[in-house]
Amino acid sequence: MATFIPTLAITYIFLAFFLSSDIGIIPRVESLGINYGQVANNLPPPDKVLELLSTLRLTKTRIYDTNPQILSAFANSNIEIIVTVENEILSQLDDPQQALQWVTSHIIPYLPETKITGIQVGNEVFTDDDETLLEHLVPAVINIHNALTRLGYPNIQVSTPSSLAVLENSYPPSAGSFKSEINGIMYQFLNFLQSTKTPFWINAYPFFAYEDEPSTIPLDYVLGNPNNVGMVDPSTKLHYDNMLYAMVDAVYFAIAKMGFRGIEVRVSETGWPSKGDTNEVGASPQNAATYNRNLLRRQMANEGTPLTPRTRLEVYLFALFNEDMKPGPTSERNYGLFQPNESMTYNVGLTTVSTASTSTSTSTSPSSSSATTISLTSSATKTKVAPKEYQSLVYWMFVHLMILILYV
Ligand SMILES: *[C@@H]1O[C@H](CO)[C@@H](O)[C@H](O)[C@H]1NC(C)=O
Repeated sequence: MATFIPTLAITYIFLAFFLSSDIGIIPRVESLGINYGQVANNLPPPDKVLELLSTLRLTKTRIYDTNPQILSAFANSNIEIIVTVENEILSQLDDPQQALQWVTSHIIPYLPETKITGIQVGNEVFTDDDETLLEHLVPAVINIHNALTRLGYPNIQVSTPSSLAVLENSYPPSAGSFKSEINGIMYQFLNFLQSTKTPFWINAYPFFAYEDEPSTIPLDYVLGNPNNVGMVDPSTKLHYDNMLYAMVDAVYFAIAKMGFRGIEVRVSETGWPSKGDTNEVGASPQNAATYNRNLLRRQMANEGTPLTPRTRLEVYLFALFNEDMKPGPTSERNYGLFQPNESMTYNVGLTTVSTASTSTSTSTSPSSSSATTISLTSSATKTKVAPKEYQSLVYWMFVHLMILILYV
């Protein structure tokens, strides 16, 4: 019992941090984001992609470079775009002068006509095979942020997307913790995020967890189907009805255990492949459609995770197109909602979650009849309060507070 109580005390303090960081209610129209990957030789030109995004009423996208054609084509549109610094040039941006030069030549020419809202510095750098990359990450992030500030754009958010493999533990969510070998640089990075009020971005794929253990993990839970049994975190008593939220909350816990508060966790990538190799259990058009449909439904409802129910979870779906030149297993080339010829890979069935107009779809999406479209935008102006989860959290804190009072 003696060692048990300090642990509880620490956990309680973490959760108190969460609660105080979950009070921001931001009134604005929200949309799901979508990743616009271009590792393909057959994609439509950027102006066609812009039309497709407009048809889908998607207003947020991310690209994996700073492609000048795309940044020019998206000028004067309502698309908010996040760009990416390629891993290959991270080490150069370690130098403040070079970072300033990079921002001046790759970003500034497109502002403000193109709504560049964020810069992702590298992709999954914390878990890259090239371990020398990581030492350049935080200097590059800081240098780019400083350059943007100096050039008059302090509001462009600088961060980096991480793979879920940054976690040592992710189950149950309250056990979430970062791998000890990256702790030092993660601490510096989180310090930057906290002081600049910038989110932490995670690439989270329940599909990977499922294909590893299809016989033990229920498919309904992984797909986020309504009314499945789900799981209860034994420490927090929070109920999870889908694995994606459990993954995100594991990241919240990992961040809290590093001593940081108020850093929002966002999903930079999630998705489900419509095709895979025979050993890639679960990859199918049906499961892909179900996963993405459930995600859309949750986004339309402005859901937050059980731990932060009042903060709408920001999600960027992976991906807009199938990408034929991606290496690796078959699934890698089959995450797209669309084929390169702009026909739908499968029907996401958006009419079931949308009340929006269906009038503008046929010209740019050959296969999407008016019955299969369209809006991915929620018109809700306020994030949602999920009273049940919130109450259970308060109850949990109350119980632990009682234990502290009684035993400490
Ligand atoms: C688009 O491409 C897919 C996959 O290659 C093909 O099955 C489909 O028939 C094409 N649709 C059109 C309208 O060309």
